[in-house]
Amino acid sequence: MATHAAATFEGPDPTVAELIAARPFLSMHAMDGLLLDDVPLNRVADEVGTPTWVYSAATMRARYGALATALADARLDAQVHYAVKANDHLAILRLFSREGAGADVVSGGELLRARAAGIPGSRIVFSGVGKSAHELRLALTEDLAQINVESAEELAMLSAIAAQMGRTARVALRVNPDVDAGTHAKLTTGRAQDKFGIAYTQAAALYAHAATLPGIRPIGLAVHIGSQILSVAPYRAAYARIAELVHALRADGLAVETVDCGGGLGIPYRGQPAPSPAALAGAIAGAFHNLNLRLALEPGRWLVGPAGLLLASVILVKQTEAGRFVVLDAAMNDLIRPAMYDAWHGIVPVSAAEAVGEASPADVVGPVCEPGDSFARGRLLPNLGANSRVAILDAGAYGSVMSSAYNARPLAAEVMIDRGDIAVIRARQPVDALWAHEHIPTFLE
Ligand SMILES: Cc1ncc(COP(=O)(O)O)c(C=O)c1O
Repeated sequence: MATHAAATFEGPDPTVAELIAARPFLSMHAMDGLLLDDVPLNRVADEVGTPTWVYSAATMRARYGALATALADARLDAQVHYAVKANDHLAILRLFSREGAGADVVSGGELLRARAAGIPGSRIVFSGVGKSAHELRLALTEDLAQINVESAEELAMLSAIAAQMGRTARVALRVNPDVDAGTHAKLTTGRAQDKFGIAYTQAAALYAHAATLPGIRPIGLAVHIGSQILSVAPYRAAYARIAELVHALRADGLAVETVDCGGGLGIPYRGQPAPSPAALAGAIAGAFHNLNLRLALEPGRWLVGPAGLLLASVILVKQTEAGRFVVLDAAMNDLIRPAMYDAWHGIVPVSAAEAVGEASPADVVGPVCEPGDSFARGRLLPNLGANSRVAILDAGAYGSVMSSAYNARPLAAEVMIDRGDIAVIRARQPVDALWAHEHIPTFLE
C-alpha cells in the first residue's frame, strides 16, 4: 500500500481576526457584529432563531467557478458531479446544477433528491458499496449517466436486473488503488482493507468479464480514496495506478472512455495548508492528459464546507474548578463532526465587542447528555454570557445532512443568503414532527 503521512496540523489555533480574514464572505461590523455577505447574523438569529445553518450562495458559486476554472486551465475535459452527501438540500443541488454541475449520489434517496432538484439522470453518477436491487432498478429507470460498480457481486446483480428490464447500464468499475489518503481513519476509503471498490489486482479481469455480460456496458474506471485530503501526493499515487490500468485494459482491446477521479479535496478548517483546485487539476492532468478520456470529479466538502456556518446562542456559561464551559443551544445532534472525527471548527463570537475581548480557554459544548457533545476543548475565546451568539465555521459540508433528532431535539432551520436576501430554505422542525409517524399500539391504550 502506498502510504502518505497523516495530515495532522500542529500549528497554533488561528485567532478570531485570522478566521474572519481567511473567509472573504465574513466581516465584522462594529455595530451589527458578524456579517455573512453583508447580512448581520444577528438579524438571521432574531428572525429565524438558533441554532440555524446559514449558507452563502455567492461563496458556493465562487467555489464552483474556481474549480471549473482550474479544470479548464489544465485543459481537462471534466464534468463536476457534486457529491450530494456533503449537503443534500434541494436549494444547494439546484444552485450547483445551475452552475453546470451534475450529481454524485450514493442512495436511491439521494438519486430522487437530485431528480427533485431538477438534475437529469444524464448528469447523475451512482456510487456506493451496497446498492439494493430496488436502487439499481431506479438507476436504470432514470437512465443514469453512469453506475460505479464496487464488486463482482454487484456487477452480477446489475447485469441480471438490467437484462430483465431490457436496459443497458453504463458501468464504471470503482477500483480500490490501495493508497492511504493520509486523512482521518474514518475518512479514508482507498486502502486494501477498506470496504470500498474492487481490488486493484482483480479489476482488469472483472472489466473484461463485464464486457461479456448482458445489460452491461463498461465505460471506464472510478476511484475515490477518501475525504478531507490535504495533500496531492495520494491523489497522484492513486491516479498513476488508474492510468496504468487504462493502458492495460486498452492493450487487451477493451474500450475505456472515462475515468471518475472521485472527490475528497480537503479544506483548511484550522488554517492549515491545503491543496488548491489547480493542484488537484495538475495531479489529474499529470496522470490522464494524453489518454483521450472524458473525466469526472465528485467533490463535496470543498464546494460547500466553507460556505456554511452553524449559528448558535449561548444558553449559559458554567464555571467549574476544571474550567469554563460555554453551553450552546446547538449540539452534537446538529453538528456531529467534532464528536465523530475529532474535527476542529473555528468559533467566532457574533458581537463585535465580544470578539475583541481578552481570550481565555473554554470548552464549547452542547446540552446533549453525552460527554462527547463538545465542539471545542480549551479554545481561546473571549468572555461570553447567556444569549451571546457564536458562529461555528466551515459547517456547510457534513453538517445539517448528518444531523439527528437525538435527545428529541428537532432539526435546526436552514437559511441561504443571496444578494442580501435571507431565504429560509428549511423551517425549524416542529417538535411534534418527531413523533408524527409513531403509533402507540392498541394493547397499550
Ligand atoms: C464515492 C464518493 N465520492 C465523493 C465523495 C465526496 O467527498 P468529499 O466531500 O470529501 O469531496 C465521497 C465522500 O467521501 C464518496 O464516498
